[in-house]
Amino acid sequence: MAEIPRDARDRHDELSRILRDARYRYDVLSAPPMPDAEYDALFRELEELEAAHPALITPASPTQTVGSPPDTAFPPFEHLQPMLSLDNAFSCEELEAWAGRVVRGLGEQPRLTCELKIDGVAINLVYRRGVLATAATRGNGTVGENVTAQVLTIEDVPYRLDVDDPPEVLEVRGEVYYPLDAFEAMNEARIEAGEAAFMNPRNAASGALRQKDPEVTRTRPLAVWCHGLGTVEGTTFSRHSEVLAWLREAGLPTDPETAVVAGIDEVWAFVERWTAARHDVAYEIDGVVVKVDDLAQRDELGFTARAPRWAIAYKMPPVEQATTLRAIEVNIGRTGKATPYAVLEPVHVSGTTITYATLHNEIQVHAKDVRVGDTVMVRRAGDVIPEVVGPVRSERPADAEPWSMPDDCPFCGQPLVRPEGEAHHFCENVDCPNRLLESLSHLASRGALDIEGLGEQTVELLVREGLVGDLADVFRLHEHREALLALDKWGEKRVDNLLAGIDAGRQQPLDRVLVALNIRHLGPTYAKTLVRAFPDLQAIRDADVETLESIDGIGPKIAASVHSWFSTPRNAELVDELIALGITTASPGGADGDGEGDATLLEGWTVVVTGTLEGFTRDEATAALEQRGAKVTGSVSGRTSLVVAGENPGSKRDKADELGVPVADEAAFRHLLAHGELRS
Ligand code: IVH
Repeated sequence: MAEIPRDARDRHDELSRILRDARYRYDVLSAPPMPDAEYDALFRELEELEAAHPALITPASPTQTVGSPPDTAFPPFEHLQPMLSLDNAFSCEELEAWAGRVVRGLGEQPRLTCELKIDGVAINLVYRRGVLATAATRGNGTVGENVTAQVLTIEDVPYRLDVDDPPEVLEVRGEVYYPLDAFEAMNEARIEAGEAAFMNPRNAASGALRQKDPEVTRTRPLAVWCHGLGTVEGTTFSRHSEVLAWLREAGLPTDPETAVVAGIDEVWAFVERWTAARHDVAYEIDGVVVKVDDLAQRDELGFTARAPRWAIAYKMPPVEQATTLRAIEVNIGRTGKATPYAVLEPVHVSGTTITYATLHNEIQVHAKDVRVGDTVMVRRAGDVIPEVVGPVRSERPADAEPWSMPDDCPFCGQPLVRPEGEAHHFCENVDCPNRLLESLSHLASRGALDIEGLGEQTVELLVREGLVGDLADVFRLHEHREALLALDKWGEKRVDNLLAGIDAGRQQPLDRVLVALNIRHLGPTYAKTLVRAFPDLQAIRDADVETLESIDGIGPKIAASVHSWFSTPRNAELVDELIALGITTASPGGADGDGEGDATLLEGWTVVVTGTLEGFTRDEATAALEQRGAKVTGSVSGRTSLVVAGENPGSKRDKADELGVPVADEAAFRHLLAHGELRS
């Protein structure tokens, strides 16, 4: 036998140890120490090392084994038929190579099924005479953990199969997953409460399923997709597609996004379609599973030690990556809110390079326990903004210190304060230079006075040149036409356009003026509510907290914030100046529709917002819907009541058409917000 070089043997030992540990943390602790893509790369390296030195292969190698030893906290359960894993393909060429092996093995081109690869937790459901006898995790593939009590809390899983003559024994294989809406809602609530968010829906599902107390599992809205069978006694099937149809009929959930295809070209078309549309389903997928459909052909092909030869998993590009947290810096927003953000070693995730990611506030930084120098996991899924999900603790440098909010504002040096009951720190200095830049940009933004030609860079230039020192100065720029013309590369046209844009901004209705003032917690919906309740700006300024609170839809937090803002002498002065400069001060007379602010107006509606809307940011559109009782979700499904589509809506709109879900443009959306119904 050929001598194995020392370094190959050492690397084999090292890789085996790392992979075994990663599997244990993934399977048992529900907290993997590295992104899936890194695990896959190390696994690939181990496979290549073994291919070069076959003597390194032992039955205990991670390439020959599945999962992890079952956790003794749960009763062991021996699967009737082993639960194996799948081999992976990362490119079209690797898929073709697999298909080539299949065709050579069978001597003909078989029919194939394409399914979505659900990023969840593998489950084995054993039905005896149609009744759920045991549910178990995969464990080491032979013995899993008995989680029957936990699985019985999952609404999707029937206790009794809906068939007339149930088979003696039926092992149903599937994937438990955490639906994305529920996952996002849970994580938002955790962030709000200062708790660490779950890394991803898979880990949340794994954690929820592995609760010792099934009553805790019951509070988590887990779901299941079934995708195959193990042992079957008392009936026979001849094709996988027939199995899926039978399972569906029997009341077991099967993913509808499945196709039977004739060859690898169609497989690749399915892969490409779903790689583009991966965020259009309400659960997380990480690939496509391709299987030989004919069960007799499957028997001919057989298995390797850890995976069937009749199936392959194509892995999509990852939505999570690891990178280094270089620094934590603080931005001061337009209301003075201090927001820490991560400065990252640039990392490519899901088609974009991520260098910055918000860390929300100091409580979140502590809850996540991310420290400068840490290797951190970064995630970007669909429309969700990039997020630092947590540190890889095993790689923490010895000198990494916990982070705390600096005492003083990094822009003006004034103390940062955290008001009683607030999660955020604030810079209270109304003249803080960064706060000024942010408030000016906000004043000019679409949801506020929508001033064309006054983007972020122009704002910076005007402030730098001393032409604008506060919000009122914007409306004095007409007096500085000459100075504007003297600015580098500014021609007459640009100056006139800007001044015309400012004049148009002056005419914007009062609710937008209120939004432009940068009052904490006062977004467009609440601004409209205020405008409807008062005849003009003066009346809003004069209102005491009780009067503000008595308005339907205005809570104590907003009432206090509005009152405190107008009572601050510096703000009062600014409003006086703005009035003198001709901004709108009168309410239009409540002509904006009756339903505004009604917290139940859209109860029962599930809405997806996609594309760019003129008058709303995505957050504002979401808030406007939620304030009326609607549920806002990220993906279009059969349960979606409406898709609001702005400019460049992308695939979600197509999905709506495909499923027959109504689509509203911005005008129809405004009508819905005002009246609680789509225009007839
Ligand atoms: S079929 C012999 N179909 O992915 C194993 N598995 O990475 C046959 N998975 O162990 C598995 N979606 O837990 C199959 N549509 C699907 C799947 C799927 C997710 C999981 C499954 C498997 C793992 C392999």
